Amino acid sequence: MKLFIDTANIADIRRLNELGIVDGVTTNPSWISRDSKGRSFKEIVQEICREVKGPVSAEVTSTDTAGMLKEARDISTWAKNTVIKLPTTAEGLKALKTLSGEGIKTNMTLVFSANQALLAGKLEATFVSPFIGRLYDAGYDGMQLIKDCTAIYRNYGFKTKILAASFREPREITEAALAGADIATVKPELVEQMIKNPFTDAGLKSFLDSWAAMKKQK
Ligand code: E4P
Repeated sequence: MKLFIDTANIADIRRLNELGIVDGVTTNPSWISRDSKGRSFKEIVQEICREVKGPVSAEVTSTDTAGMLKEARDISTWAKNTVIKLPTTAEGLKALKTLSGEGIKTNMTLVFSANQALLAGKLEATFVSPFIGRLYDAGYDGMQLIKDCTAIYRNYGFKTKILAASFREPREITEAALAGADIATVKPELVEQMIKNPFTDAGLKSFLDSWAAMKKQK
């Protein structure tokens, strides 16, 4: 499973990229707004695209197809690894159909049902983003959505990649991998939690204590 980082914070992206585990980045208008510090959307996206070789999703903010297409065509010129994030609405699906025809990479976002994912797959989206955590927040089984998407895409040989999103805790990332998600997009603090384990720390301490004791004896 590939790992994307779900943030617009360049310091976090750089730190995790040094570990060699970052396959791409997803941003959204909330992440851009939180980390803009007076810079433009374009500057932020271009900086991320220089740092990370893989796909970088940047979301349109128009709600009509014409506006989405105008933004998408512009964003796609900012760097060669930009991916256009479109909301999974009727207007967004119309924009997807056109962008698929133009060979522009897309990420259908805010997917909360298997039927939305089915439509995104039919229209040849590059990525589809089911939002697991927001479903759990509302009392639904978020992981069932990933299982349904993987089964449907397998049945019809869709090439669209399942980009599981909106994670709340590390266990969900494991479950998404077991369910067959192609990619997980994970917030930086959750990536840290994937790495850190108290048993690893305790085990390392005991090994190093033994080593130090041996050195003392010499
Ligand atoms: C995905 O692309 C979204 O940016 C993200 O996963 C949303 O996460 P949230 O539900 O925690 O806001």
